[in-house]
Amino acid sequence: MTIYNFSAGPATLPKPVLEKAQAELLNYQDSGMSVLEMSHRSPEFDKIVKDAEATLRELMAIPDNYKVIFLQGGGSTQFSMLPLNLAQGKKAYYLVGGSWGKKAYTEAVKLSKTIPFEPILLASSEDTVYDHIPSFDPSTIDPEAAYVHLTTNNTIEGTAIYDLPDTNGVPIVADMSSNILAARYNVEDFALIYAGAQKNIGPAGVTVVIVREDFLNDQPQLSAMLDYRIQAEAGSLYNTPPCFSIYISKLVFDWVKNEIGGVDKMAEIQREKSGLLYDYIESSDFYTNPVKDAKDRSVCNIPFVTPSKDLDAKFVAEADALGFKNIKGHRSVGGMRASVYNAFPRQGVLDLIDFMKKFEAENK
Ligand SMILES: Cc1ncc(COP(=O)(O)O)c(C=O)c1O
Repeated sequence: MTIYNFSAGPATLPKPVLEKAQAELLNYQDSGMSVLEMSHRSPEFDKIVKDAEATLRELMAIPDNYKVIFLQGGGSTQFSMLPLNLAQGKKAYYLVGGSWGKKAYTEAVKLSKTIPFEPILLASSEDTVYDHIPSFDPSTIDPEAAYVHLTTNNTIEGTAIYDLPDTNGVPIVADMSSNILAARYNVEDFALIYAGAQKNIGPAGVTVVIVREDFLNDQPQLSAMLDYRIQAEAGSLYNTPPCFSIYISKLVFDWVKNEIGGVDKMAEIQREKSGLLYDYIESSDFYTNPVKDAKDRSVCNIPFVTPSKDLDAKFVAEADALGFKNIKGHRSVGGMRASVYNAFPRQGVLDLIDFMKKFEAENK
């Protein structure tokens, strides 16, 4: 039975990447050791981390005045690291279009009880279970604020921001965890981008941060591990980094570059692949996608429901038995969610649609 893994993260990795990692696992490029065993100060690993950075820079067209850092602590650590480094003594606005954006805001509020800065909720679509990207009046934003934080792809709710909003000149900071490399963004439009790797980049354990140099912290009081400047100046090697996760990420960057042909091509593939499922859901009067406005739809996470919770549960159970794994929606929204990140095969979407048609015919 073919298994299709619709997990929202950690998620499907490109098969050629896994095969290469397997082939190199015991003896990395004649070093006589595995990357799993290698010193992070060795020339071999130094080349891995530098190549990973160089290829990511090329893929995303990251300008020279931005630093690229590979950190630990997941996307969640960035919720605190970001205001610690960028917002002290200032206002920081949060555009909340999903549960992860709310977490970022909630963490900022918590931190502001002990660190002097003022997190402000710019807009939220929580009252309609984040079924759309909220809008706001840019003139309400204090132009002296540190940043406007937004989530480019709401993993749980299946919405995305492709055209950045007017923020009254205030720099934009983005959590790009679930659509980095799946849609084209202009890095220069952001002060900082962060992304947990475990969806479109690689395995869990590494978080990519891309930060414009003039936003690096100038004050020495931060813990070194939480200081972007120290991490950047150490070239992601301030302490022992998640070496194997960085290595796999490097292989994924190579895959996007050499086998796919870059981010624009990847984005086109994602639009077409997700479009197959969106079009089918739209044409069906049995399934519904809770995201109403097509322009807000994620190319990576596609939520949908049947007419009832009982049928949703039946769908998940039957799908699972047929090899469509991890398709249950997040507990906060229910229903189903097909996460079809960059490495997810198009055939998996086609086979899912066939199953959905059959389920519809049997249960309508
Ligand atoms: C958009 C987004 N931000 C942040 C996170 C949290 O990431 P982590 O589990 O790496 O802390 C997730 C996890 O799924 C996410 O989807």
